[in-house]
Amino acid sequence: MYKLARGLLFRLDAELAHHLTLGVLTRFPAAAGLMAKPVPESKRLQTTLHHLQFPHPIGLAAGLDKDGVALQGLARCGFSFIEVGTVTPRPQPGNPTPRLFRLKEDEALINRMGFNNRGANELQRRLRDRPLRIPIGVNLGKNKDTPNALAVDDYIHGVEMFAGVADYLVINVSSPNTPLLRDLQSEAELIPLVQSVVAARNKACQQRPTAPPVLVKIAPDLSDDAIPALAYALAEAGCQGFIATNTTITRNGLISEWKAESGGLSGRPLRARSTDVIRLIHQSIEGRLPIIGSGGVFSASDAYEKIKAGCTLVEIYTAFIYKGPALIAKMVEELDKLLAKDGFERMSDAVGSESNMEKKSGLR
Ligand SMILES: Cc1cc2nc3c(=O)[nH]c(=O)nc-3n(C[C@H](O)[C@H](O)[C@H](O)COP(=O)(O)O)c2cc1C
Repeated sequence: MYKLARGLLFRLDAELAHHLTLGVLTRFPAAAGLMAKPVPESKRLQTTLHHLQFPHPIGLAAGLDKDGVALQGLARCGFSFIEVGTVTPRPQPGNPTPRLFRLKEDEALINRMGFNNRGANELQRRLRDRPLRIPIGVNLGKNKDTPNALAVDDYIHGVEMFAGVADYLVINVSSPNTPLLRDLQSEAELIPLVQSVVAARNKACQQRPTAPPVLVKIAPDLSDDAIPALAYALAEAGCQGFIATNTTITRNGLISEWKAESGGLSGRPLRARSTDVIRLIHQSIEGRLPIIGSGGVFSASDAYEKIKAGCTLVEIYTAFIYKGPALIAKMVEELDKLLAKDGFERMSDAVGSESNMEKKSGLR
C-alpha cells in the first residue's frame, strides 16, 4: 500500500509531499492504520529513559512534525514515542524554498529547512490539549535572529513553556541550518547553557512529581577527539542524556543528482558515523546516561547495531519516508528475533554490549 502512495508522493516536490502526508495524518489519523501494521508486544523490548517507559525502542525523530499537528496519526503508525520540534520561542518561516531534497539512489535526504515552525505558544497549547499518552519529547531551538550571545534566553523560554507538557526536553545546538548554531557546541558555550537549562527545568518542576529529563542532541561532524570530552563535561554539568546524532554536512560517496545541495544529510549515508558517535559517548560516560540513537536506521539490524554501541532508544526519520509506516512493526518484530537469537532476555542487557569495542576504536 505504501509503495503505491510513495510512487505518487515521490513524483511531487519533497516538501509538498511532506505537507500533504502530514495533512492527511492530521485530519484522518485513522488513515495511518491503512498503511501501518499492528506492532507486536514484546516484554524483551520494553525499555526506559529515566522514569519514562516504552513498549519498544523505535520512535520518531525531530523535524517531521515540528508543530505537533499529527501526533495521533503518527502514534497509530506504531512509534513508541514522538519527538516534536525543533520549536523556537517565536514562529519563523525557515529558509527559502526549495529546501528539502530526495537523494533516492542514496536513500537519503538533504534538508536546509531552518527551523520553520509555528512557535512555542502554539505547540504548547497543542501538547496541553493532547489526548494521547505516548511519551513526547520537545526539541528546543533558538530563533534565527537571536544572536548566540542571547541564545540561552531562547532555550530557557523553551523550558518554561514545555517543562509541564513534555516528557523529555532536547537542547538542539547541532542543526546545520541555523547560521552559527553549531558554534554553541563548544564546551565553553554549551556547559553554561546546559547548566542554565537544567536550573530552569528544576525551577519549573519544583511542584511536580517528575521532571522531564534534559538531553543534548549532538552533531556527527564533531571530531572523535572532541566528542568524549564534550560528553563527559555535559554529564558533569547535569545533562541527563544524549541524542546521537543530528544530520551531517559531510557528503561522502553520494551518487544522487542533489548531492551538492547545502544542508544536513540524513539517511543511509549517516548510519555508520552516527553509530560511531553513540559508541564514543557511551564509552566516555561509561554508560551512565541514556543515549537515543538517530541516523540512518532503516532496519532492525541497523537499530541493533546502535543498541549494541550504547543507545537505549532509536529514532527514525528518513527511513520512514522511504519505507513507510509498516516499517515500525517490522523492525520491532525483527529486533525481538535478533535479540532472542543472541540470547538477550531484555534489550537493556544488549545496550553497549559490543565486545572488543575499545580495541576496535582504539580509544583507550
Ligand atoms: C527534513 C528534516 C528536518 C529535520 N528537522 C530537524 C529539526 O527541526 N530538529 C532536529 O533536531 N533534527 C531535525 N532533523 C534531523 C532528524 O531528527 C534526525 O536526527 C536525522 O534526520 C537523522 O536521522 P535519519 O537518518 O533517520 O533521518 C531533520 C531531518 C530532516 C530529514
